[in-house]
Amino acid sequence: MFSDELIEKIRGAFLRVDRDADGRKRIFFDNGTGTLVLRRAADAEAKARVDWSANVGAIFSESKKAEEVISEGREAVADLLNAPSPGTIVSGESATSLLFGLSYAIGKSLDGSENIVTTEYEHYANISPWLELKRRGLVREVRFARLIKDEGVLDLDHLKTLVDKKTGIIAVTAASNVLGTKSPLKEIGKIARDINAYFIVDAVHHIPHGPIDVRDIDCDFLVFSGYKFFTSHGSFLYGKEEHLETLRPYKVEPAPDYPPYKFELGTRDQSKFAAIKAVVEYLIWISEQLVGPYEDLLAKYSGRVRSLMSAMSAIEKYEKELSKAMLTGYKDAPGLMEIPNLKVYGIKDINRLDERDPTFAFKVENIPDEEVVEKFWVKHGIALRSENYYSKVPEVYGVPSMIRATLVHFNTLNEVYTFLKALNEIVKFN
Ligand SMILES: Cc1ncc(COP(=O)(O)O)c(C=O)c1O
Repeated sequence: MFSDELIEKIRGAFLRVDRDADGRKRIFFDNGTGTLVLRRAADAEAKARVDWSANVGAIFSESKKAEEVISEGREAVADLLNAPSPGTIVSGESATSLLFGLSYAIGKSLDGSENIVTTEYEHYANISPWLELKRRGLVREVRFARLIKDEGVLDLDHLKTLVDKKTGIIAVTAASNVLGTKSPLKEIGKIARDINAYFIVDAVHHIPHGPIDVRDIDCDFLVFSGYKFFTSHGSFLYGKEEHLETLRPYKVEPAPDYPPYKFELGTRDQSKFAAIKAVVEYLIWISEQLVGPYEDLLAKYSGRVRSLMSAMSAIEKYEKELSKAMLTGYKDAPGLMEIPNLKVYGIKDINRLDERDPTFAFKVENIPDEEVVEKFWVKHGIALRSENYYSKVPEVYGVPSMIRATLVHFNTLNEVYTFLKALNEIVKFN
């Protein structure tokens, strides 16, 4: 478990965890939009940018070192996801651009009779590429599996009814970036296998919250972004080797036509690879601090993968404590479930914490979202926001925006306490 001492050390690993760059003390609950950055990731990025800035492919040492940094970064991401090899890891500008690129590549092999099944709780990065295929006549239909609105969870039975022999792709988020609800990925993976459809997972929101094993999920593709995972922009796409081999992405003629390079448009930014490797090293450091109740769970892993799975499992466990406190209260502060005049979306049942990440969407009755967010910031120094998060979720609930608090493992129960006290005050003095 995370001891108080470890939480302090973890907080020490982030430059701006207590105060922003202007010295203002604040609580950072806007992690769903982009987490704070690890000091060691920023340092590694700066070092690679300055010391090994040359482009790959030349004989001199800066260029050789840049190549090494890129391969090490790929290896680190492969281990993070338990991918079979670094060659299955493609890098790109953003998850959105990687998913568009993938959709164009898959689109080349579709004949217009297929359908795509996605869900009502996706970020549009995992919707618009599929709608684009439809607009271009490459698929017949994009179908949306329903949300069970009261519970804020996916209606898996409905998803099953949407899938048929003509389903070419099932594209699902690992966790909703608004509700925090996790998808039953293994079950959906089996459904995709049965009909031989591509199974594509958007792990952008879920990546900082728990272990991800692409082989266990048995997905064909999975994408995540560095800025949601304690470093800067730049994203990574895992793809099954056979698909990376056979798909034909758009590329310039002279670029290699073998994976992962054929999927990478232009040359790489080695500093991003240095940074993601530093995040992975930080997680290994966490795993070394743990006194482990995770042994059984991790028996199937070895080496660095095992350390990463253990760190991410510990993070997941700690975050459940934060979620529980958010929902039921902490010390004398009532939780989200108890505060009156509050509409909370997503899973509220504390017996279902396994099904959610610590991401909470809510609205205060009779106060506009922006006003609530401003009160949080100006009076209480709590950073969160209200918008639609490019997600289909607000649309489904018939509202233009929601307030969202996303916690990660550097947040604390004391911060939850301050947040809940502030929220109680905002609601009370409405
Ligand atoms: C679930 C989810 N998918 C995709 C994205 C888009 O990621 P990117 O900015 O890397 O394109 C986001 C960003 O908020 C997200 O939360």
